[in-house]
Amino acid sequence: MTTTTPVVLIAEELAPSVLEVLGGDVEIRHVDGADRAALLPALAEASAVLIRSATQIDAEALAAAPLLKVVARAGIGLDNVDVPAATERGVLVVNAPTSNIVSAAEHAVALLLAAARHIPAADASLREGKWARSKFTGVEVTEKTVGVVGLGRIGVLVAQRLAAFGVTLIAYDPYIQPGRAAQLGVRLVSLDELLREADFITIHLPKTPETLGLIGAEQLAATKRGVIIVNAARGGLVDEAALAEALQSGQVGAAGIDVYAKEPCTDSPLFGLPNVVVTPHLGASTTEAQDKAGTAVARSVRLALQGEFVPDA
Ligand code: NAD
Ligand code: MLT
Repeated sequence: MTTTTPVVLIAEELAPSVLEVLGGDVEIRHVDGADRAALLPALAEASAVLIRSATQIDAEALAAAPLLKVVARAGIGLDNVDVPAATERGVLVVNAPTSNIVSAAEHAVALLLAAARHIPAADASLREGKWARSKFTGVEVTEKTVGVVGLGRIGVLVAQRLAAFGVTLIAYDPYIQPGRAAQLGVRLVSLDELLREADFITIHLPKTPETLGLIGAEQLAATKRGVIIVNAARGGLVDEAALAEALQSGQVGAAGIDVYAKEPCTDSPLFGLPNVVVTPHLGASTTEAQDKAGTAVARSVRLALQGEFVPDA
């Protein structure tokens, strides 16, 4: 059945503000974007599809969507969208690159502190009726060296927040001007130097062919023994199996992990280890971030469907 009212397909859970901004002159449909068997037929009549990180809009999905005008990613990472294939088909891809950066940065800092002080393990132990104080001796952050891998929007916010703890900040990011880093009080170093010098490493890279597996067994072996590693960027940037081994051997002291090579992820070698704090891709999961991301991309979808110019969100 064809329809003159544009169909907007919402493929993941988004903030209520999305519906308010989209308005009444579109037909809203919902689908579970992670369920391919449901997603592909649902795309057949869609003029727009709104997603977060769980929906793959690849060449196959685009081919199933002949009416599609716009793919809207309510968040930052576009690694789940085949942007070149969309562009080839004349489909606009929009995201909300600043909507959740504060939330993601706060989550990375929370993981770092939770890992340094064993907070989830101590919480679980006390709930089991154990008063185990010496088992959960942690480390201070103050006067330590923090290595930021990827000094972009989120990496900068993390560095600024950790600066308040009185740390030395170093970063590896070959695309950043040294002057910009110096303004932030961050010394730019090579990846090798960062691995050698950092007591804490926090990763804020995009997922690209260049960054995938950037921190593997060899890099983990080159870190200071007992280093604490946080990855709230993308799964696969740190090799999960190598990290699990390094945590078991004590080469890595603790880790805070929000993202996984394959998501959803309910089974990982990391989940059985006591010195790991894990969350299910929650970096952007705050009321504020979801509201900002939803509002921004819903505005872009409206403009795209009206054939108007879509400015950066
Ligand atoms: P950004 O583009 O602002 O920053 C990324 C930085 O990485 C840039 O400064 C870039 O120069 C640098 N970089 C790129 N390739 C590099 C390489 N090979 N080596 C070293 N540095 C490199 O991105 P952002 O907004 O800061 O987001 C960072 C990551 O966080 C992205 O992967 C994004 O998808 C992810 N993210 C996760 C969540 C979450 O829920 N966990 C939320 C928001 C964003
Ligand atoms: C993002 O890239 O914005 C994050 O993965 C957050 C999300 O969309 O859930």
